[in-house]
Amino acid sequence: MKGFNLEPQDVPRISTAHRSIRTALPHPESLPILAGLADTEARSMHGQLPVVWDRAEGFQVHDPWGNTWIDFSSTIFVANAGHGNARIVAAIQRVLDKPLLHTYTFANTERTAYLRYLIDNTPAQFERAFLLSAGTEAVECALKLMRMHAQSLGKRRGGVIALQGNWHGRTLGAQFLAGNEAQKTWIGYRDPDIHHIPFPYEWDADAAADPEGFFQRGIERLLAEKELDPDQDLAGFMLETFQGWAAAFYPPAFVQEVERFARRHGMLLAFDEMQAGFGRTGKLFGYMHYGVEPDLLCVGKGASSSLPVSAVLGRESVLNLPAKGSMSSTHSANPMCCAAAHANLEALLEDGLIDNAAELGAHMQARLADLSRRHGLRLQGRGMVAAVIAPEEGGGKRCDAVSELAMQRGLLVVHTGRESIKIAPPLSITRAALDEGLDVLETCFEDCP
Ligand SMILES: Cc1ncc(COP(=O)(O)O)c(C=O)c1O
Repeated sequence: MKGFNLEPQDVPRISTAHRSIRTALPHPESLPILAGLADTEARSMHGQLPVVWDRAEGFQVHDPWGNTWIDFSSTIFVANAGHGNARIVAAIQRVLDKPLLHTYTFANTERTAYLRYLIDNTPAQFERAFLLSAGTEAVECALKLMRMHAQSLGKRRGGVIALQGNWHGRTLGAQFLAGNEAQKTWIGYRDPDIHHIPFPYEWDADAAADPEGFFQRGIERLLAEKELDPDQDLAGFMLETFQGWAAAFYPPAFVQEVERFARRHGMLLAFDEMQAGFGRTGKLFGYMHYGVEPDLLCVGKGASSSLPVSAVLGRESVLNLPAKGSMSSTHSANPMCCAAAHANLEALLEDGLIDNAAELGAHMQARLADLSRRHGLRLQGRGMVAAVIAPEEGGGKRCDAVSELAMQRGLLVVHTGRESIKIAPPLSITRAALDEGLDVLETCFEDCP
């Protein structure tokens, strides 16, 4: 991944309704802070834009030296309800003031109240939830549940089918599921029961012309090559709701065909909603754009807009497959995390944030479509998530340059390290701030042709 310039640049000063750039960037005093991390932390954590966060509220990020950015990242799809959302801060504060900082799997009222609210406010097939901390843990849990479900049906193997190019996290099972070969070389072997089929990119002519046929051809090829009998060898599908780096959604007909295949062969359909969940796409969950009913849902990130919370949701008959006491995690269901997640869901549902994501999202997509046409980019996305992709050879360099220039001009985007820039503002952003940020993005593409 590119390292950004750590020489303080004498960038033009900016003072607008939503941005303030008052100093050289990176700020000279930020350098020892960044160096402190470089000296003590594994470098795999590094490569981010050199901004030191001091305070973040709503759709703005402030450093300690008076600089303010419009945030188009929500950190990384987390702060859906806005940074420092007042409901969430108050909920955390109440638990902090008790104090009740940890209870392991002992009961606490925050956990009971959150789970009741979560189950009552999600579709009927989600009868139980299992709370964890990281998204990758939720993916591991879904993988385990799919395989236990296949065993309960008497299948001989627990094959799980994922999509080429999708991504699911950094732990072992999640990396096996990921369709990114380069990231798996460290493992040194392959799980013989994890399989991949091609992703139906919008720009793939075959997939666009006939999504159902594209799925059928992909699965038939897989079954023939690996000599699989889906009734005996396959436990389920794991779909990233949209492919992360490109915000690439599937044609609904493709996903509906996946669901039909799963139902025919006693397989479970799981979605990894880490980026897509909790209003991001203009609906509570991203899978709702496809007209299907998943058996398992993996959520995280925007589940709390703040403290670490992830979860797997599903039917009682599946979630209760592991025996009492056999599936837990030390830090899951922490009372402060549960209180934060509860307040977050209330904010999303009661403060109109999902409607805001749908309405402002349509405006954002229309403006980005214009920008993409003008700058030779490919646009993907829905609601309040988009990726502009520079499809030319070396497009990643243009995206690195635009991300850095945007930072210097008071806008933070999601720097993917690839040939895309992702845009994911908090769902609480105002139209004026969104437009101001999009204007900045436009100038950056103009200046990085
Ligand atoms: C689609 C998807 N799945 C899983 C994960 C892993 O989540 P976490 O980093 O919380 O483990 C991510 C994180 O970026 C993600 O985008």
